[in-house]
Amino acid sequence: MFQSSNQKKIALVSGANRGIGFAIAKGLAQQDVTVLLGSRNLEKGDEVSAALRQEGLDVRAVQLDTTDDASVWKACGLIQRDYGRLDILVNNAGIGLDFAQDLTLVERMEQTLTLNVVGTLRLMDACIPLLEEAPFATIVNVSSELGSFGLRSDKAWQYSAFVLPTYQASKAAVNSLTLTYATLLSEKDIKVNAVCPGYTATDATKDAVVAPTRKPEQAAGIAIKLALSGKDGPTGTFQNEEGHLPW
Ligand SMILES: NC(=O)c1ccc[n+]([C@@H]2O[C@H](COP(=O)([O-])OP(=O)(O)OC[C@H]3O[C@@H](n4cnc5c(N)ncnc54)[C@H](OP(=O)(O)O)[C@@H]3O)[C@@H](O)[C@H]2O)c1
Repeated sequence: MFQSSNQKKIALVSGANRGIGFAIAKGLAQQDVTVLLGSRNLEKGDEVSAALRQEGLDVRAVQLDTTDDASVWKACGLIQRDYGRLDILVNNAGIGLDFAQDLTLVERMEQTLTLNVVGTLRLMDACIPLLEEAPFATIVNVSSELGSFGLRSDKAWQYSAFVLPTYQASKAAVNSLTLTYATLLSEKDIKVNAVCPGYTATDATKDAVVAPTRKPEQAAGIAIKLALSGKDGPTGTFQNEEGHLPW
């Protein structure tokens, strides 16, 4: 067992070697959480974790490809062996391929669902035994308001004309999984919420026609807030930094 971790909360963040996931990992570590920084490329994860440790933060890279059963089970085995529990899971890893010219529409859909939906489900399900070992636990699924039927069906909404068939479907499915697992885990002191980080400047948006100015540190705020919400915190909600969002 890792000594320092017995009193501190333990968090796992997927897709945390860059972008919003990195900002969530860093922000949680700044709140005195032991952070397992999920990175599908362990070298990249080690590099950014080492930089965070230089800042005095308690961060350790964990190889994690959420599309790969073996990788997910290995990461969970490591957490079980070294910490015996997980207090916080942030399902952040995600892609948007609607503008990927080299792929057919069906390939875009298949690859997007494989990571955004099946990957989220795989990691969430695999982590439940670890989350059950915590006094209480939180799961945060990083979704998008582009997956909200309530917003999309409002013609006055600023993004209502957006047509991103694969990304929108994937985040609607993430929202559905959030509600399903909030219900499934309602008796178990495990809170499950979805968040929208907002339109943010990351590698994912670097080629966008309208470049976002929002920084990952700001985008991470709502995920960090819900990850650290207490035993009586919300469950089965969809939120951004301004409040509740319609499903
Ligand atoms: N940026 C926005 O405007 C925005 C808005 C709303 C919601 N979001 C959501 O926020 C989340 C993070 O987005 P971002 O903008 O920070 O994206 P990003 O900069 O492209 O980072 C994506 C992260 O996911 C990882 N990843 C990709 N495939 C993976 C896999 N199979 N297993 C594990 N990790 C994998 C990437 O790792 P590699 O470095 O190895 O590729 C990277 O760490 C996503 O769920 C996205 O949909 C973003």
